[in-house]
Amino acid sequence: MRSIPPCADIREVGPRDGLQNEPPVPIEARVRLIDALSATGLRRIEAASFVSPKAIPPMAGAADVMAQITRVRGVVYSALVPNVRGAEDALAAKADEVQLVVSASETHNQKNVRRSVAESLVAAHELSELVHDAGVPVEAIVSTAFGCPYEGDVAPERVAQVAGHLVDAGADRLSFGDTTGMATPRRVDDLLDALARAGIDIATVGLHFHDTRGTALANVFAALEREVTRFDASVGGLGGCPYAPGASGNAVTEDLVHMLEDAGVDTGIDLPALIDCARLAQSIVGRELPSAMLHAGPRLARVGDAA
Ligand code: COA
Ligand code: ZN
Repeated sequence: MRSIPPCADIREVGPRDGLQNEPPVPIEARVRLIDALSATGLRRIEAASFVSPKAIPPMAGAADVMAQITRVRGVVYSALVPNVRGAEDALAAKADEVQLVVSASETHNQKNVRRSVAESLVAAHELSELVHDAGVPVEAIVSTAFGCPYEGDVAPERVAQVAGHLVDAGADRLSFGDTTGMATPRRVDDLLDALARAGIDIATVGLHFHDTRGTALANVFAALEREVTRFDASVGGLGGCPYAPGASGNAVTEDLVHMLEDAGVDTGIDLPALIDCARLAQSIVGRELPSAMLHAGPRLARVGDAA
């Protein structure tokens, strides 16, 4: 095996990316899930998004979620925002970090936030200033970084260019979203190469994979071999749209932790506690989730344990 970093930093995105793609669940259940996740050793949880409730009904009540969670010291509770209005709301709700999302592809940005990429990039300056004035860091998420559901392939150079503009706008760090699960290990390599050519330190970027085509964990491993250590994942594999056959959620957090710990990569996360969270997530959404850890359990410690 090639050398890989000794530890990885996993951000749990189930309460946002997962639940935004499920039928709406009560605020109390969203709070219960976040509180359970806070006790697993996870250090970063994407708790909500401050977006139009007409656009994304399951994320309505984000301020209530942020107000009702029990914050654990050392855990960063972040919120995704599409615009300045969302950033103002996220700051009012005391988000520890604001994540601004901009797509690399024009059509997806138009459909997602109803403005051009250029308009989003201009707004990113104002947004970063506002958030920094409150002493809060800004992460810029470049979505459709591995392909666009409307335009198909997105050139890695284009992704790097948008990322560069976001750094110029004041983003403290970058992450790249594989919005509809189009990434493969080869495409991960290609994007990281393009980012490095554009002068971006790839060891600091975050990656966000969906398992739509079964490649999420392979993509993580390919990125680890390139020194990337920050990954998003969703407990239980929450997400995907139950009304869109074939759509699926993020990399499954507990499956990712299991794979990483087995490879000697420390995540700081208690796997049994995380599997309990996946069970909770499954009961909250009322359907079977794709988590391998829920169905097969962690790998046996010794051959022969399965009596
Ligand atoms: N949070 C809540 N409401 C918001 C908002 C925000 N961040 N930004 C705008 N709005 C409200 C406006 O106040 C207005 O409300 P009204 O109809 O009661 O007057 C309404 O939304 C329309 O405002 P407008 O600026 O014209 O927005 P829009 O209709 O062009 O929609 C977005 C733009 C960005 C608000 C909307 O597309 C959105 O929320 N997208 C998020 C998509 C998303 O979360 N995708 C998944 C994550 S990547
Ligand atoms: Zn996503």
